[in-house]
Amino acid sequence: MDQDAMKRAAAQAALDYIEPGSIIGIGTGSTANHFIDLLAGVKGRIEAAVASSQASARRLQEHGIPVLDLNEAGRLSLYVDGADEANDLLHLIKGGGGALTREKIVAGASDHFVCIADDTKLVDVLGKFPLPIEVIPMARELVAREVRALGGEPVLREGFVTDNGNVILDVHGLVIDEAVRLESLLNHIPGVVTNGLFAIRPADVLLLGTPDGVRRLTPQGG
Ligand code: A5P
Repeated sequence: MDQDAMKRAAAQAALDYIEPGSIIGIGTGSTANHFIDLLAGVKGRIEAAVASSQASARRLQEHGIPVLDLNEAGRLSLYVDGADEANDLLHLIKGGGGALTREKIVAGASDHFVCIADDTKLVDVLGKFPLPIEVIPMARELVAREVRALGGEPVLREGFVTDNGNVILDVHGLVIDEAVRLESLLNHIPGVVTNGLFAIRPADVLLLGTPDGVRRLTPQGG
């Protein structure tokens, strides 16, 4: 089974977590796109969706799925999204697609976070995937210096502007063994809007597409 088929299988399994008649949060990326496409086949099950990016909102609307602003939706029962890396505590690195801030907001507004991914995303230690940080443009160099002092090598994502009008620094070379601490530390650098660590609010369930079917993981050893 190829990687894309594993992503789709994980997305399919996430449909079981939908409470009938609810408003759900939906992430961004190729795995979330599979979820949106599969949701289209059962769209009567939900009242509406809240999207974590303009791209996901467009895709939902193309399928005729109503999209609400988070401020109108209130608390959400479920958030479904992919990840760039996950460990066995279900701490994640996200933001490869640059939507990390809205993803963290919608995840934070949701009771249950179901992460969907193929099995290449499960790692022992987070950090091989460069950690994205969304930064207010005027603070780019300040944040880069602070990140270097923490042992990371920040690289500006060239030609990319987030949905919020900011830039992304992708931080290479971090070995992240204390994800909650690092997430909090990075959040306190002036000019940082969000970093791509989802550890303070990790996923509740990870549905992992594998060649042998979908594995369901919950946080271990935390
Ligand atoms: C988007 O900003 C990201 O957080 C995605 O959720 C993440 O990059 C996973 O993307 P894929 O599903 O395309 O691998």
